[in-house]
Amino acid sequence: MKVKSVKKMFDLTGKVAVITGGGGMLGVRHAEAIAEAGGHAVLADLGKERVSSAARSITETFGVEAMGISVDITRKKEVERMVRKTVARFRRIDILINNAALTVKGGGEDSEKYFFPFEKYPLDLWERALKVNLTGMFLCTQAVGKVMARQGRGVVLNIASTAGVVGPDHRIYRNVRSPYSGKPFNTPVSYSTTKAGVINFTRYLATYWAHKNIRVNVLSPGGVYDGHDKTFVKNYSLRVPLGRMADRDEYKGAVLFLVSDASSYMTGANLIVDGGWTAW
Ligand SMILES: NC(=O)c1ccc[n+]([C@@H]2O[C@H](COP(=O)([O-])OP(=O)(O)OC[C@H]3O[C@@H](n4cnc5c(N)ncnc54)[C@H](O)[C@@H]3O)[C@@H](O)[C@H]2O)c1
Repeated sequence: MKVKSVKKMFDLTGKVAVITGGGGMLGVRHAEAIAEAGGHAVLADLGKERVSSAARSITETFGVEAMGISVDITRKKEVERMVRKTVARFRRIDILINNAALTVKGGGEDSEKYFFPFEKYPLDLWERALKVNLTGMFLCTQAVGKVMARQGRGVVLNIASTAGVVGPDHRIYRNVRSPYSGKPFNTPVSYSTTKAGVINFTRYLATYWAHKNIRVNVLSPGGVYDGHDKTFVKNYSLRVPLGRMADRDEYKGAVLFLVSDASSYMTGANLIVDGGWTAW
């Protein structure tokens, strides 16, 4: 019997990947993981300046093709344009990572009220989270999925969060402030709810598209250290069996596994990588 090469299973040579939120902290890392495995990366985010230099640096470092595209994923026409531009350049799309989200840094803190208590949570912020985290993901997957269905092959990886798997431990936010704005912070209800939605959106498409040879999985990361205040880091770490927050490079292995043939018998699954946060 022929032995399958593990190296080959993880190899992405020549594969084309679109990464939404590709200019953000983790989006760039997902793109690097793909590029290091030989894949071409399309970094899509709000405003070209967010992604152009990251795309340039990926090409210089890994010798693959990379390009930045400006897109607001909540706008159908812009999403369709993103897909047209990618197909015009590469002729195909093998991988879609739905990573863009209304995060604390990625648009949330633009509003004074992002961390408001549930009783006073503003309807417009709730709706904005639905629009970016769910409707945006729906539009991107619909547009890219058509290309994948035509090709008879594709992999979609949706990014959720432990916040979509379990309820937040509200105690860890007592007396802590946002690392970005210094405001008192927490996990808003809109974030947890939409991330839970991402998980079943994934399962729906996994069963819907299996016969088209399109696999759809979800990665649920735990919290990444990004200059958080000491009290928060201590509170968070106490809740994690591994005793710390994640490093920003620690999801690369899971991403590469889920977008490559290494996970060829996997669809509809939620891979939780959280230092054990959800284990107890
Ligand atoms: N950082 C963490 O601790 C953590 C933990 C669990 C899950 N996640 C998830 O990982 C993903 C990446 O998070 P991150 O920490 O890199 O956040 P980030 O804020 O650095 O990146 C998010 C990116 O999404 C982009 N974005 C927001 N709205 C958009 C829109 N309408 N159209 C296009 N792009 C848009 C932002 O511009 C930003 O670049 C998110 O889905 C987030 O929920 C992050």
